[in-house]
Amino acid sequence: MHPTLKSASPLKQQKTCLMLGVYEGGSMTPAAKEVDKVLGGLIKKLFAQGLMQGKTGECLPLFHTEGFDHILLVGCGKPDTLTPTGFRKMVTSAVRSLSQVKAVTCYLTEVAVQDKSLAFKIRQITEAAFDGLYCFDMFKSEKKPAQLKEFIIAIPDNKQQKACEQALLQGSSIASGAALTKNLANLPSNICTPAFLADQAKALGKQYSSIKVNILGEKEMQKLGMGALLAVSQGSAEEAKLICLEYKGGSKKEAPVALVGKGITFDTGGNSLKSPDGMVGMKYDMCGAATVLGTIKAAAELELPINVVGIIAAVENMPGGTAYKPEDILTSLSGQTIEVISTDAEGRLVLADALTYCERYKPDVVIDIATLTGAVVIALGTHATGLLTNHDPLAKDLIKAGLESNDRTWQLPLWDEYQEQIKSPFADMANTGGRSAGTITAACFLSRFTKKFHWAHLDVAGTAAIMGGTSERLATGRPVPLLTQFLIDRARA
Ligand code: BES
Ligand code: MN
Ligand code: ZN
Repeated sequence: MHPTLKSASPLKQQKTCLMLGVYEGGSMTPAAKEVDKVLGGLIKKLFAQGLMQGKTGECLPLFHTEGFDHILLVGCGKPDTLTPTGFRKMVTSAVRSLSQVKAVTCYLTEVAVQDKSLAFKIRQITEAAFDGLYCFDMFKSEKKPAQLKEFIIAIPDNKQQKACEQALLQGSSIASGAALTKNLANLPSNICTPAFLADQAKALGKQYSSIKVNILGEKEMQKLGMGALLAVSQGSAEEAKLICLEYKGGSKKEAPVALVGKGITFDTGGNSLKSPDGMVGMKYDMCGAATVLGTIKAAAELELPINVVGIIAAVENMPGGTAYKPEDILTSLSGQTIEVISTDAEGRLVLADALTYCERYKPDVVIDIATLTGAVVIALGTHATGLLTNHDPLAKDLIKAGLESNDRTWQLPLWDEYQEQIKSPFADMANTGGRSAGTITAACFLSRFTKKFHWAHLDVAGTAAIMGGTSERLATGRPVPLLTQFLIDRARA
C-alpha cells in the first residue's frame, strides 16, 4: 500500500470506499454534505434515528447506496474540539474498521484539528493508515491477507500541493521506519538476539549507500575496557554486540547527532531475578535499539542533509553461575567504578559504556533511548516519553518535535540533589538509587557518563510498547516519529 494524494470530489471516487467525517449533533464535513445531497439526506436521517451519533472514532459503514460502493461515516466529535491525539486515534480506528476493502479515499483531511495544519493531518493520516493495517502474524499459522491496495488522501485543492507532498513523504518515511522498529521489537528473544540485531543493522547498510555499519564483538569491547556492558552480558550464552551505524547526509565537517539505544534483547533481571509476571514483556527491552534503527532508516529514506550516528548496546541479561551479581564492582569504559546493587538495573550499565564510546564521534548532541525504568510508567503512564537532559535547549527542541509529530515527551528534573541517592560506600557510584524518583536517579547515573556533551535521555518504558495484559502486547514504533521530526527540524535549521 502506497498512500497517494488527490484533489477530487467524492462523487468522482464512487468506486472506492469513502471515509467521510461527521460531527456530533449532525453537522458534516464538506465531502459528507456533498454525498448526503446525492443520497437524498440519508446521512441526516441516520443521525435523526440515532444510528450515528458522531462520537469521536465512531464508525458506520454503508454499502451499495445510490452508486456508492462503500461509505464509511467517521465520527469526529463536537465541531472544533478534536485534539491532535483524538484525530490520530479516530483515523486509526477508521482504518481498522475496514475489511474486504481494496481502495479508500479518505476525506478526513477536512476535519478541523486544534491549530494544526493540513500537512500535519496528511502526515497523521499516512502514519495511521500504516498503523491501522499493521499486523504481526509471522508466527501465526493463519495469516491475514493484505486487502487494501490503494489509500488515497483527499486534499481540498492544488494550492498547497508542495507542502502536501512533502507531508506525505515524511509520513510514509516515518511509517516505514516505525514499521522496522515494531517488527524487530515484536520478535521474541530466541530469534532477536544481539547477533540478529547486528545483522539487521548490516542489512540497513546494504539497503542504503548513505549508511555505514561497524560491529564490535566481546573481544573488541574487552580490549577497550567496556567492563560495565560486558558484566551484564556475562551470564548469557549470546555474544554481546556494539552496533555502530553512521548515516552521512550532511557535510564532512558537520558534527553528528548521536542516537544511543538500549538493546537488551531479553531482561530476566539477572540474578536479581524478575517475577514471572514482571518478566513478560521483557523481549521489548530492546525497543531503544529498534528505535535507533527505525529512525536512521527514516532519515535515509528522507535523505536528510545531516549526519547521524547510531550506537546500539545489544546484550542479553541472564541469571546463572557465570552471571554478574549484586555487590560486584565494575570498571566502566570511562574509568569510573560502579557497585552493582541490582543486576536488574542493567540498562544503565550497558548505556554507560555506549555513551562513553560515543565521545569518539565528537557528536553535537547525544540522545539515548531506553526502556529504562518501570518508574516512568508510574510517573507518566503510556502517553508521554520521559525526558531528562543536561542541556535545557535540547529539551525544548525535543518537546517541540514531540508536539509536531504527535509523539509527545515530558521533562523530569535532573537536579543535583538526586545524585545523593546513587552513592556507594565502595565504588564511585551505585547502580540503583532506591524506590523514590527511580526514573530520575537512573538518569543521574547516566549523567555521570555524559559530561562531555549535550545529552538527553528518553525513557520509553511506557511508550515503546504495550506490555500489560496478555493478548494486547504490541510495539508502538514510538519514539521514531519524535526523533525523525527532531532530525527534520535540525536539517531545516
Ligand atoms: N527493563 C526494565 C525496565 C522496565 C520495566 C521496562 C517495566 C518496561 C516495563 C529495567 O531494566 C529494570 O528492570 N529496571 C528496574 C530498575 C530498578 C532495579 C532500579 C525497575 O524499573 O524496576
Ligand atoms: Mn532490568
Ligand atoms: Zn531492562
